[in-house]
Amino acid sequence: MTATAEPKEIRLSDYAPFPYAYDEVTLDFALDGEYATVTAMSVITPIEGRDRTRGLVLNGKMPFFELLGARVNGETLPADRYSIEADGDDTLMIIKDTPDVRFELEITTKFKPQDNTELSGLYKSSGTFCTQCEAEGFRSITFYPDRPDVMSVFTTKITADKAKYPVLLSNGNLIDSGDAANGAHFATWKDPWRKPCYLFALVAGDLAVVEDTFTTMSGREVALKIYAQAKNIDRCDFAMASLKRAMKWDEDRFGLEYDLDLFNIVAVDDFNMGAMENKSLNIFNSRLVLASEESATDATFERIEGVIGHEYFHNYTGNRVTCRDWFQLSLKEGLTVFRDHEFTSDLHSRAVKRIADVRYLRAAQFAEDASPLAHPVRPEAYQKIDNFYTLTVYEKGSELIRMYSTLLGKDGFRKGMDLYFQRHDGQAVTTEDFFQAMSDANSTNIEKLKRWYSQAGTPALNAEGTYDAVTKTYALTLTQTLPQTNDVKGAADKKLPQLIPVAVGLLGEDGKDMVLDGDIKCEGDAEATLDETKTTAVCRLTEFKQTFTFTNITSKPVPSVLRGFSAPVKLTMTPELTTDELLFLLANDSDEFNRWEAAQKIATSILIRLCKKHNDDKALKIEDVDVTSDPSWAIYSAACCLIVKDATANRLDRAWVEEALNFPGPSQLIQDLAPGVNPVNTYRVCKAFARAFAKESRVELEAALATCDAEAAGLAYDVDGPQVSRRALRGYAIRMLGSIGGDDVSSSIASAYSSAKNMTDTVSALTGLCGHDDSSAAKKKAFDDFLNKWKDDNNVSCTWLRMVASDAGKGGANAIDEMKRLMASDVYDAKNPNKFYSLIGGFAGGNIEGFHAADGSGYEFVADVLLQTDAINPQASSRMASPFTKWRLYDENRQNLMKAQLERLLAQKLSPNLFEIISKAIKG
Ligand code: TRP
Ligand code: ZN
Repeated sequence: MTATAEPKEIRLSDYAPFPYAYDEVTLDFALDGEYATVTAMSVITPIEGRDRTRGLVLNGKMPFFELLGARVNGETLPADRYSIEADGDDTLMIIKDTPDVRFELEITTKFKPQDNTELSGLYKSSGTFCTQCEAEGFRSITFYPDRPDVMSVFTTKITADKAKYPVLLSNGNLIDSGDAANGAHFATWKDPWRKPCYLFALVAGDLAVVEDTFTTMSGREVALKIYAQAKNIDRCDFAMASLKRAMKWDEDRFGLEYDLDLFNIVAVDDFNMGAMENKSLNIFNSRLVLASEESATDATFERIEGVIGHEYFHNYTGNRVTCRDWFQLSLKEGLTVFRDHEFTSDLHSRAVKRIADVRYLRAAQFAEDASPLAHPVRPEAYQKIDNFYTLTVYEKGSELIRMYSTLLGKDGFRKGMDLYFQRHDGQAVTTEDFFQAMSDANSTNIEKLKRWYSQAGTPALNAEGTYDAVTKTYALTLTQTLPQTNDVKGAADKKLPQLIPVAVGLLGEDGKDMVLDGDIKCEGDAEATLDETKTTAVCRLTEFKQTFTFTNITSKPVPSVLRGFSAPVKLTMTPELTTDELLFLLANDSDEFNRWEAAQKIATSILIRLCKKHNDDKALKIEDVDVTSDPSWAIYSAACCLIVKDATANRLDRAWVEEALNFPGPSQLIQDLAPGVNPVNTYRVCKAFARAFAKESRVELEAALATCDAEAAGLAYDVDGPQVSRRALRGYAIRMLGSIGGDDVSSSIASAYSSAKNMTDTVSALTGLCGHDDSSAAKKKAFDDFLNKWKDDNNVSCTWLRMVASDAGKGGANAIDEMKRLMASDVYDAKNPNKFYSLIGGFAGGNIEGFHAADGSGYEFVADVLLQTDAINPQASSRMASPFTKWRLYDENRQNLMKAQLERLLAQKLSPNLFEIISKAIKG
């Protein structure tokens, strides 16, 4: 029925250890103008007691590469001693009757890196040779056991033209270099640390470098180098400073010291993901390295610092201790995301970071967990591992690690980490091993936390509170419900209760936290622990339903439940908190997260009421949404207006304010309302909501803008806390004002655009100009100006592409025609993932009216583009298929239109990557 054969599934339960040890590997890369010729010489020892009946099974990719020769112990391997077999889209080389004792295997392959558009393995980016081997890119270079549990010591020799490729890099230390014949030169690198091949890297190019040093806690000096194209080299200083902060932080917080004398980062323009932690040679998407005041927003600066940290932290969590198999991906990713979140929290505002992370988790990971592609943090089966670099593995995985830390405390968590490294340094291990180390290093029982690894779906948590004035007790009954999901252990009735840490505070009438000095009575093996100030209790829910009784509670409290978002669940309260109680929490809660949450809850309830009123197939006009007559509106908008004033006067943390006043967006609301949602009307309700607030608070918003501008006048630009917070508040005010529309607003934002001196203010103005559907001349002029200035910059032009894609079709134009024009323009490049993600992702993810057009034109357009891209770069096409996997959320008309596109795609010849996503999505 379908054009693509059903590919085989890889299952965790089929795991078998590899029967050979790779003692050492010597790679020789000859890079001439057209071909890369690679000779891989491995010293291999059969492992006693392991099953070798299949022989030596190696992964490769033919015909991408040609096999030029294979020798065992120097003798050419006769044709009857090995076979070449298809393995899905890949190839296996199976060598039979290998020697019983240590032997040498030499394999020579040849291929054209410049034809490698998948950007996996060895490829070329703007004239630079570079590699990406995670997860299974090494098999595009040579035949090798391409699995993370085979670890070896790598020596790499690179030979290439000296004039064209003056810089030759690989992992570890440079041990030899010199000139070679015909104007070529060579460099030999040796990495003393054993590693799996996914951490191998090579770079050869004409690159400029920024150099610095870091002195480690034991006094060793490490050379730090960041390489980029010469034209961009003056934008690397922030990345370098971030790297030094990351190295110091890992020493201070986890006692982890860098383990080589050199650390390299290379920035390349063509890269499928954000960055890669190759041992001592991190390769980065240039958008996560390059930054200057003129070219990068504050958000980009923060992201760069976070990702530089993330990749650096992998040196221990990922490299020194790696994954046994790819089902364990969250072992390194969830843990390393947690570490980079902590890094950012320790350096900046913990509360604001938490809010931003939870906002993202809810908007994106919760949606994934509710989709047909829901899978556990440790999946049980996959077709293409590339498809499992997901929000669930990364973000939910990080939440899981955060729960260990909440349950064990900061010190207990550190003890667990220390034991983990003590036991497993140099090994390839499982999430089970991590759990065991955490558990063994502490006396707390966390056994049921393990279930979070194997059960998909976002748990629902209900908290029902009752106060008894006679006994002076407050009883909080917590109930967890686990949803039905499509993963292997999906049946909801078979799911087991997960250990959920629920942080609870009780506020007294005075708005202060009650001191919880009475006993907290718990049922069964549940427990509750108090923080130092005895104002927050962590209730450990271990069954589906348990009651926690707080004693010595002298008056009826207002509960503050799930403080700091202590678990990734969907919380409901019984009885529901009233608007007054939420306002009380917003004003008083000592937990900044829950103060933000209180504001979000009020806004959400208003928005939901409005959305329900307009959730039909009528084309809704923004003017037709009556926001202000909602019963909670007046009081809510007055509270928000006060917050704007307080922020302007600097009485509140402005960065927190910017988050607090960022109303819930369509992705959030669509999930709350699903199924059967008209996403276009939901979007318009959100627009109307923002506009109503902006109109009512116009005076205060204008005052905020004026104050911020006055404060900034004459100041030298810096990315420090106060400046970043000020620009955040300023950007918020401009965005809000922009939603009012009209000539006077447009012209004042246009002048804010003209006078902007940094990218943050520039982007705020451009976003403000898109706030209203007017297709104003001012908007067009500013966007043309921006493009003109940045069209030759591969990163900044992506900012433009994303913005115009999300704005395409506004003001009556035909969105698809506009998109097609953009795709044909010089600034677009279908082979560059950043440009593809910006333009097509900006449309499919950011242009709700265009993508979800009721006639299906948006779906058809994106499906066409997916097909084109799939032939170039399957990792990119499958990532971009994600909006289609959410079809279950929408109204019947859109469900049918989306499914029709999924069926159309499935009838074509798809890459195994895209096939997996589409075929799973369609099953619903
Ligand atoms: N390990 C990388 C990280 O730090 C992820 C990554 C980079 C990746 N490039 C990739 C994953 C290509 C799959 C394919 O998170
Ligand atoms: Zn990572």
